[in-house]
Amino acid sequence: MPNAQFIQISQPNAAAVAQELLQGLCAPQAMTSPKYLYDALGSRLFEAITELPEYDVTRTEARAMQLHSSDMAMHLPKNACWIDLGAGNCEKAGRLLGPMAAGRYVAVDISVDFLRSAIENLQRQHPDLPMMGLGTDFSCGLDLPDSLNLDPAQPRVLFYPGSSIGNFTPEQAVGFLRSLHSACGTAASSGLLIGVDLLKNADELEAAYDDALGVTAAFNLNLLLHINRLVGSDFKVRDWQHLSRFNAEQSRVEMHLRARHALRVQWPGGERLFAAGQTIHTENACKWTVSGFDALLQSAGFKSTRCWTDPATRFALFWATA
Ligand code: AVI
Repeated sequence: MPNAQFIQISQPNAAAVAQELLQGLCAPQAMTSPKYLYDALGSRLFEAITELPEYDVTRTEARAMQLHSSDMAMHLPKNACWIDLGAGNCEKAGRLLGPMAAGRYVAVDISVDFLRSAIENLQRQHPDLPMMGLGTDFSCGLDLPDSLNLDPAQPRVLFYPGSSIGNFTPEQAVGFLRSLHSACGTAASSGLLIGVDLLKNADELEAAYDDALGVTAAFNLNLLLHINRLVGSDFKVRDWQHLSRFNAEQSRVEMHLRARHALRVQWPGGERLFAAGQTIHTENACKWTVSGFDALLQSAGFKSTRCWTDPATRFALFWATA
């Protein structure tokens, strides 16, 4: 059995992270990147979200994959190098590697520490499949290091499930998809397999991001504790309220944190006053139509696309060849 290899690309330093966060917090409409929602507790809360009755994204994607796996196997290249973006527990790719006859597996996440045990476990199930873990922050675009020693002649399947693409604005998404297009390399039949949550009615969407148990509220509010650790600020969770609202014009659910009353937040060397009701914009979850996302893929340079959905057309899986 080959031993999985691990590579960690250096992380941005603490000063750069603090600077980015404070710049967003001091903007007229305060905002933060959604990546800061995922500290250790935030990642566990997100896993809990995927089990909520109101949030069917993860279950519907799994159903669509199961339903269409034989057709997918006919269109995706065999013996390909699967590059799993935001792999986490590697569960989703783990279900496809065998049926899709993968030839190599590269799991990518912000830190190799998140990947180690999942890859080692997967390696036991697929003892002959070469596997690697790559720790890198790809939120601004994917750059595959030479140290991965990817074979330029082996087709690549870039795998980006879960509708994380929805957390980019359309302008950010097209730039990000272009970076995935170039990471597909030059081998014939390489492409991107991507999961996209589709537009549905506003009440359903708002409930999916504001569940009755308050798990999404906890996920959003936990961001404040994470920011306190990263910038030394004194946010108090009880001063803030979780808000989810559907922005029809932009076709997205927005998550905000709203100040319950006028307050002052301080950090070493600075502060910001928030008026009662003022918000911090913490996440966008864009909802696409099949034709809209197809056009986005084309504008990022992908050629032909194929799309599979669940029976109720709530979620789409696109296979886009480079
Ligand atoms: C990770 N991402 C696709 C989730 C979403 O649906 O936008 C994050 C999330 N935020 C609140 N609930 C789930």
